[in-house]
Amino acid sequence: MLTGKRILLIVSGGIAAFKCHDLIRRLRERGAAVRCVMTEAAAKFVTPLSLQALSEDRVYADMFSLTDESEMGHIELSREADLLVVAPATADILAKMAAGLADDLASTVLLATDKTVLAAPAMNVRMWLHAATQANAATLRGRGVLFVGPNEGAMACNEYGPGRMAEPLEIVAAIESWFMGKLAAPDFHMALPQPPEAIILPHRPLLGRRALVTSGPTREAIDPVRYISNHSSGRQGHAIAAALATLGADVTLVAGPVSQADPVGVRVVRVDSADQMLEACQVALPVDVAVCAAAVADWKVARAVNAKLKKAPGAAPPVLELVPNPDILATLSAAGINRPRLVVGFAAETEDVVSNAVAKRTRKGCDWIVANDVSAGSGTFGGTDNTVHLVTAEGVEDWPKQSKDAVAARLAVRIAQHLVA
Ligand code: CTP
Repeated sequence: MLTGKRILLIVSGGIAAFKCHDLIRRLRERGAAVRCVMTEAAAKFVTPLSLQALSEDRVYADMFSLTDESEMGHIELSREADLLVVAPATADILAKMAAGLADDLASTVLLATDKTVLAAPAMNVRMWLHAATQANAATLRGRGVLFVGPNEGAMACNEYGPGRMAEPLEIVAAIESWFMGKLAAPDFHMALPQPPEAIILPHRPLLGRRALVTSGPTREAIDPVRYISNHSSGRQGHAIAAALATLGADVTLVAGPVSQADPVGVRVVRVDSADQMLEACQVALPVDVAVCAAAVADWKVARAVNAKLKKAPGAAPPVLELVPNPDILATLSAAGINRPRLVVGFAAETEDVVSNAVAKRTRKGCDWIVANDVSAGSGTFGGTDNTVHLVTAEGVEDWPKQSKDAVAARLAVRIAQHLVA
């Protein structure tokens, strides 16, 4: 895809600089040659040696190095590249680019270039939303600088909003689009901050709060070796348990059979069947919030047998009589005195996602429903991404397609806001 393309990667100093390692690897896998320029601040986050090892080229950092200038001057660095990529692009380097400052090698190369520049901003949400940064970004966009991201998500300091650097594969996709001629200023617009407000929470806002999360599928035994189940990976539920724990909650995760690792700092209760899941949930009460992300089997076999069903020669296959499983979400929502203050369910739908979820919220008696499309083409079941809608009594929020970790982080922040308010 990128065979023979030459990328000059300018790494400025932010925590997201560590993602450059993956970015370089991904670009090189696709055949691109990557040469790196780093700022002095970037060297506080990644070493020149690591960038050199991954790019298999020397790394340029010092504008006043006689050797560098004699071998490859700052003009030459940009001349030799097809595209300049600034990742991460800090508020500082965007400001320098907008103002035309040239006080180190990175900013000098950016001022001296006549090549297209793609910037992947990464900074604290307040810095990104600051009028100065927004004005700088608008100025740069007006001059033809392309942007990818920043993405929205939970950030350091318990802030939530736009400011996370786009993921390496998103940056690669933007680069490929540019080379294919699909990405051209001024038609390409960066993801503008939505929603514009940054959410500020106290440090570990859920300290002292108890949370219950169900995750994964359940297995309903037919006999000791066979069962009925589904494709749920448990990825979303486990990510929610981890995100709630990160915000300080005391979390019990009741998990069906999954291959996910236990989230750090979470009490995990492993179960097989829906009956066992319900029992484990009831033992975990009282809690402040319950999130039912498990894909509970709707039916179980009426009479599971203790011995393996055998095929008798000439006999008809066994007929399985199914009976409904308990509805864990509905049971928790109606738990009377023990009802969690906030009960959140999921709605896995294959059609009419939002209207089905709105009806499901009322039917199950829960407070919020996170609705997602799990139809075959959506890639949700077993996949890493999720496109969800949050249905509350106030209305429906459409969240952008994002990783299940990002959905979990955003949901945990929303839960914290609700409980702390
Ligand atoms: N759920 C539950 N116990 C069940 C079935 C579902 O706790 N026996 C919970 C799920 O964890 C999820 C929500 O209910 O939070 C909705 O699950 P979903 O499978 O979408 O809905 P169903 O109740 O199975 O309804 P339907 O299959 O008709 O869409």
